[in-house]
Amino acid sequence: MTTTRLSARQPRVAQQRMAQQRLIFALDVASLAEVKEYVALLKDEVGLFKVGKQLFLHGGPQVVRLIQQKGGHIFLDLKFHDIPRTVANAGIEAARLGVRMLNVHAAGGFEMMQQTMIEINKVCKAERLHRPTLLAVTVLTSLNKDDLKRTGVTAGVEQQVARLAKLAQEAGMDGVVASPLEILRIRRECGERFFLVVPGVRSKGEVWDDQKRVLTPEEAIQAGADYLVVGKPIRDAADPREAARQVVREMADGLTRTQRGAADVERSALV
Ligand code: C5P
Repeated sequence: MTTTRLSARQPRVAQQRMAQQRLIFALDVASLAEVKEYVALLKDEVGLFKVGKQLFLHGGPQVVRLIQQKGGHIFLDLKFHDIPRTVANAGIEAARLGVRMLNVHAAGGFEMMQQTMIEINKVCKAERLHRPTLLAVTVLTSLNKDDLKRTGVTAGVEQQVARLAKLAQEAGMDGVVASPLEILRIRRECGERFFLVVPGVRSKGEVWDDQKRVLTPEEAIQAGADYLVVGKPIRDAADPREAARQVVREMADGLTRTQRGAADVERSALV
């Protein structure tokens, strides 16, 4: 795994290339015909295709193989949450499928995360597999303070996100999935060598339909995101390829302002 952070010091072409590798397209579709269509269109524009529960249950492991055969890499977004052995075994099968990234719920606990990482590492070494990047999900963005309270969590959302992110880091996870407005806090808590994968971004000038807590790709990168997850704006665009290129350009723009932009984003996130 590379922990190279996106940085402002690289030349523009290298930044564009790196930005492209760090763009994840959410393949939220439920037909193999659409999978083929989007992978063919976008495999040279994005770094990973995110396969979630709906598509995986529709197409099974075969859909993963199909994307791979067409030249795409996969982030398997199944958010495992179970006893440690069960999650570790699921993670091993995901690694054997050859996915590049997968995730578990940090709320599953320290041991669940640690054991999953250890077992995946072991199997990948023994079977000479590429070890996937392992992420934790902290607090789902659909939950607010009251929702947490009803589950017995009395901390505020931000505090709980920070706590779970630290726990994930201590357990050896490579990073977390984070909402745009959590980036700065998690970077502060977890430092630079920890991946932040961020959904909920919208390009400049776009209508922000169902995503309430959003930043632009440029702002998210400036704030410290490593990977961005974008679905609808690319999927529903008249020209998905151009829409993906626009996101990559904005990510690359963010790189050029990485150093001095962070404080601006922090301020705008507070208002
Ligand atoms: O809205 P959009 O289609 O760009 O979302 C991309 C992906 O990120 C979707 O698969 C969605 O489920 C996920 N997402 C998320 N958390 C959010 C917003 C979106 O995990 N707060």
